Amino acid sequence: MNNTTKASDKSFDLRTYLEDRRGRIDGRLERILARSHAETRVCTAIRHSLMGSGKRFRPVLCLAAAEAVGGVTKAVLQTACAIEMIHTYSLIHDDLPAMDNDDLRRGRPTCHVAFDEATAILAGDALLTLAFETLADCGQYAETDAVRMLRVIGMIAGASGYRGMIEGQMRDMQAEQAPLDLDSLKEMHRMKTGALIETAVVSGALLAGADREQTDALQVYAENIGLAFQVTDDILNVRGDPETMGKASGTDQARGKSTYPALMGLSRADEYADSLVDNALQAIAIFDTKAKPLTALARYIIARNK
Ligand code: IPE
Ligand code: IPE
Ligand code: MG
Ligand code: MG
Repeated sequence: MNNTTKASDKSFDLRTYLEDRRGRIDGRLERILARSHAETRVCTAIRHSLMGSGKRFRPVLCLAAAEAVGGVTKAVLQTACAIEMIHTYSLIHDDLPAMDNDDLRRGRPTCHVAFDEATAILAGDALLTLAFETLADCGQYAETDAVRMLRVIGMIAGASGYRGMIEGQMRDMQAEQAPLDLDSLKEMHRMKTGALIETAVVSGALLAGADREQTDALQVYAENIGLAFQVTDDILNVRGDPETMGKASGTDQARGKSTYPALMGLSRADEYADSLVDNALQAIAIFDTKAKPLTALARYIIARNK
């Protein structure tokens, strides 16, 4: 870890920031869920997975990017929540027996264990469509927001779909049979995890009125932290504590997954994650103190233990 990454910023307290922003996101998610029929089986399953102890990293990033550029509007908050719904749906399906077959997620039994496979598939499907319903909730937006929102909806659909997260998940599964080389692993991670993280950052910025230079800088920031996030997920799968993480460890090796620690060893994977965060911080050097949350969040990605 180099000096840029190690240095702590005394004027910014990430813990307080995360607590506040997670509170805002959870409050809005609760409001959205309150409008659905909370007594149905699918809604109970959605709540079980969505309202657990997720880090809310993607929605917080969306807010932080908007703050770096201008400020958080209702449209930004709705977008942040929609991205968390898509992420949660991807976790529900990722945990299914046909995919990673995991029993524990966010410190709770996975959706198909707590309910059943059919319910988990349907809860995932419902979260994906609820995300787009949330984005299209035009009553929430000013007119300029609505125009920007159309672009954001297209970006989010692309990042979550067959050119992004879905293809990443497909390659992750295929790689259990035929291990990937480093370049292919990077590409797989960029699609599987990076695409949605990039979209969280860029959509927050665009909705806050980012110009071309700001958007380009944040795109580079997001590409680097997106990759660093998945490299760290792979590292934690080797040396993380299941209780702290709220999910199992050691599973990647057991399933023969292609991961950074498997390909380059733990210490080189650590160095690689550090270097990605350095790249991310360089990219956002053009911003003033309003980018402090983005800086702290980038450092948190590799320092986290869950
Ligand atoms: C886990 O994501 C899956 C990956 C894409 C690496 P997170 O680590 O953000 O999971 P939650 O949202 O905190 O549960
Ligand atoms: C999670 O990926 C699903 C997506 C990124 C879409 P992983 O399988 O690598 O993440 P964990 O380790 O189960 O959280
Ligand atoms: Mg997986
Ligand atoms: Mg998994």
